Amino acid sequence: MSVHKEVKRITTHTLQEMKNSGEKIAMLTAYDYSMATIVDDAGMDIILVGDSASNVMAGHETTLPITLDQMIYHASSVVRAVKRALVVVDLPFGSYQGNSKEALSSAIRIMKEAGAHAVKIEGGVEIAESVSRILTAGIPVMGHLGLTPQSIYKFGTYTVRAKHEAEAKKLKEDALKLQELGCFGIVLEKIPAKLAHEVSESLSIPTIGIGAGRHCDGQVLVIHDMLGINKGFKPRFLRQYASLYDVMNGAIKNYVSDVKAKEFPNEKEQY
Ligand code: KIV
Repeated sequence: MSVHKEVKRITTHTLQEMKNSGEKIAMLTAYDYSMATIVDDAGMDIILVGDSASNVMAGHETTLPITLDQMIYHASSVVRAVKRALVVVDLPFGSYQGNSKEALSSAIRIMKEAGAHAVKIEGGVEIAESVSRILTAGIPVMGHLGLTPQSIYKFGTYTVRAKHEAEAKKLKEDALKLQELGCFGIVLEKIPAKLAHEVSESLSIPTIGIGAGRHCDGQVLVIHDMLGINKGFKPRFLRQYASLYDVMNGAIKNYVSDVKAKEFPNEKEQY
């Protein structure tokens, strides 16, 4: 008889305990069942169904085109795979900016139709009403400050944000506001490490950095980037843990040549 060990799920409370005890939080994106299975089995704390799916899954230049329905499709595939990690899903561009009622109904759809555990939303003080309204429905919210890719046409470039005093000051105020409202964590994207350090120390909730240095309470990367599937994307903050483009491309080339050479399938590979 096999004895099944209960898997202890990661919750927003676990993440808070990790911050309190100084244990770093590991977060990575996933967008489909198979990848999410591998990521969860590897011991990830948070799996983010990011709107970066718009780039890496659909081939768009920005995160703006992905729809709420498409995010729900990706998220429900991930949720079916995950046994331990907390699954956080991005509210996509256009699904919350209109007003707080729209923000709440988008968040409810993500929780109800995908079975997600929390939502992430880009912005600070200007989205406070939406964040509060989502929170009052019992939906955990993660903030996202610094480089917020849904505003790329306002920024004009993907360079480091908050390098200057005024923007750094606004980011600190936004972070405090999100904490006050009740967010359980905040992603800090592409800001100076010193600023991320200061923000992380001033907040009681965890910060998760991407291109924000080592002093954040956790780190997040896009899975296609860190596995080297996305060959051309090599920003300074990215550590590439594998070169899967080359591994997969090599394997596929071998398959093509075996088929052409009539070497696949062989006697043992047929009925
Ligand atoms: O969409 C995404 O993958 C993200 C991460 C870069 C934090 O928001």
